[in-house]
Amino acid sequence: MLKDESGKTENCLDFRHSHVAVLLNEVLYWISPDQGKSYIDCTLGMSGMAEMLLQESAPSGRLLGIDRDAEAIAQAHQVLAPYHERVELRHGNFTSLKAIAEEAGFTHVDGIVFDLGVSSPQLSQAERGFSFMKDGPLDMRMDQSTGPTAAEFLLHISEKALERILREYGEERFAKRIARAIVEERQEPITTTSRLSEIIRRAIPIPARRGRLHYATRTFQALRIAVNGELDGLADVLRDASSLLGPGGRLCVIAFHSLEDRIVKHTFRELSAKPSPLLSLLTKKPLTPTREEQRRNPRSRSAKLRVAERVTGERSG
Ligand SMILES: C[S@@+](CC[C@H](N)C(=O)[O-])C[C@H]1O[C@@H](n2cnc3c(N)ncnc32)[C@H](O)[C@@H]1O
Repeated sequence: MLKDESGKTENCLDFRHSHVAVLLNEVLYWISPDQGKSYIDCTLGMSGMAEMLLQESAPSGRLLGIDRDAEAIAQAHQVLAPYHERVELRHGNFTSLKAIAEEAGFTHVDGIVFDLGVSSPQLSQAERGFSFMKDGPLDMRMDQSTGPTAAEFLLHISEKALERILREYGEERFAKRIARAIVEERQEPITTTSRLSEIIRRAIPIPARRGRLHYATRTFQALRIAVNGELDGLADVLRDASSLLGPGGRLCVIAFHSLEDRIVKHTFRELSAKPSPLLSLLTKKPLTPTREEQRRNPRSRSAKLRVAERVTGERSG
């Protein structure tokens, strides 16, 4: 979990942008944006990748941008305003990609990008509740217009189910102790990141508190994945994305943890299987950031990019 596989990327173009998305050069290399083509960015975030796709496909390339975070969409309206007639933006979950793309008129597209996980602003704003480094309300929802917050989630979940989530989504070896501590402490609802972090700290043995990873990392990751249902529907949306690509269209997926990457790998394998493959795999092994990118942006360290190309004109249904 959270381990990096080595394997170096090549093909590094040197693009500059105020917000540089992870593995941006590699995505641009594989998508090769061009005028007259159409693209979908399923995870707009700070629009870094989307803006480069628009710039590189000037003057006539089109882009549909999706994010489940209303703040990301609001920011995209500003950042991408100069490209207005070439851009469609939608607030929504990419699990509805097919419906969103069809409604927006983006079928038979030339490239689709998923840059999974949370964005820097989500992580860095205390009030979003993703970070154990900053005290804030225990929210953790990427889409704050729907669903229970992490605080509400912790109120009702059974100890067993919580232990399983911490073990499976966080590979937390002290899952049992942490789940027990949370259930004991929640008589007074756990509503802040700092209180949860303190409960975790007290639940684990003292030597384990001093490891390379912060002691709350795995629990916060597991909770975030559960609260946002991050793995739900990922395989299905990759199938839908493949069916939205025109022949030769490319699908780029960046995963930040091994659970996600495993789903991408297996789904790509399924979609490229004989006798009637829909995709051809362009990256046998996932691409990872160069050492230079990892140095510049430590958050990029666990990123893995897989790329596939649409090979037939038939739609999978
Ligand atoms: C790592 S950031 C993307 C960064 C982006 N490529 C850029 O250049 O700034 C991930 C974004 O995907 C969004 N996201 C994650 N899961 C999503 C989902 N199921 N549906 C829609 N958006 C999602 C998050 O809200 C976040 O803004």
